[in-house]
Amino acid sequence: MSVFKDNILKGKVALITGGATGIGKQIAYTLGKHGASVCIASRKQERLQKTCEELQAKGIQCSWFSCDIREPEQVEDVIKQIIKRHKGLDIVINNAAGNFPAAIANTSYKGFKTITDIDLLGTYNVTRAAFDAWLKDNGGHIVNISAPFQNLGVSYQAHVAAAKAGVDSLTRSAAVEFGPHGIRVNAVCPGATADTEGLERFATVSEELSTSSACPLGYLGQKSDIANAVLFLVSDAASYINGQIFSVDGGSGIDMLKLGPIS
Ligand code: COA
Repeated sequence: MSVFKDNILKGKVALITGGATGIGKQIAYTLGKHGASVCIASRKQERLQKTCEELQAKGIQCSWFSCDIREPEQVEDVIKQIIKRHKGLDIVINNAAGNFPAAIANTSYKGFKTITDIDLLGTYNVTRAAFDAWLKDNGGHIVNISAPFQNLGVSYQAHVAAAKAGVDSLTRSAAVEFGPHGIRVNAVCPGATADTEGLERFATVSEELSTSSACPLGYLGQKSDIANAVLFLVSDAASYINGQIFSVDGGSGIDMLKLGPIS
């Protein structure tokens, strides 16, 4: 649960891409627990159905939609279905992303393109379809889930960093263009987050990353830390926050020497 009242999103409809697993699932849970009807979308029907049933069992209104965010027609179709079923769409969380650790020299041309297609173009496709079909006339909120390393030189993640730098840029441009429509657009950059597929994959190239000593707060980020930041951004408490890229990493991103807690 969060410090917010249970019903702050009552009557709101939220789409969470990649909402069947990991951080996306936690965001769906958190927004749902605060009253939103949540719509989760991703490629794998089985996972969607399972998560949907799990959330429904916890009293959350949830529906699932299968699509590949790389395909604009599929995305448009899902957005249309959501608007038809729920009579609107208030919140869009662009969370779906692909990732694998690989050095530039070991990443194929197709591998690089696959990640930019999912992370950057996928975010654009969903943002564009939601804006055109509903948000531009009704206002709303968009939160893009970005990454912690796109402004640094990061090894094994050139493909993801390039895509997420694009996501940050798109966040700012959309905030400026969509602001007059009553839409706020922001981004959250999770640091190393416990119990996620992303961290599991990274543990194979960086042991340090998966330990709490990498963070000044002394513990690894939890999925709920990220979901609560998203909840704040789509709430009225953030009514004047627009076009911002927020690190939610316990201070890891600014800790250059990473010496661990100093006593
Ligand atoms: N290392 C190097 N290249 C890789 C790779 C890896 N671990 N995983 C995928 N690729 C390359 C493939 O080799 C392929 O290129 P090629 O045909 O030239 O060899 C290209 O990426 C596309 O891979 P494919 O598996 O066919 O694409 P896909 O669209 O089905 O799925 C991912 C790609 C990245 C989404 C998939 O690997 C995945 O599910 N990743 C997990 C998602 C994740 O980690 N999410 C958390 C985000 S932090």
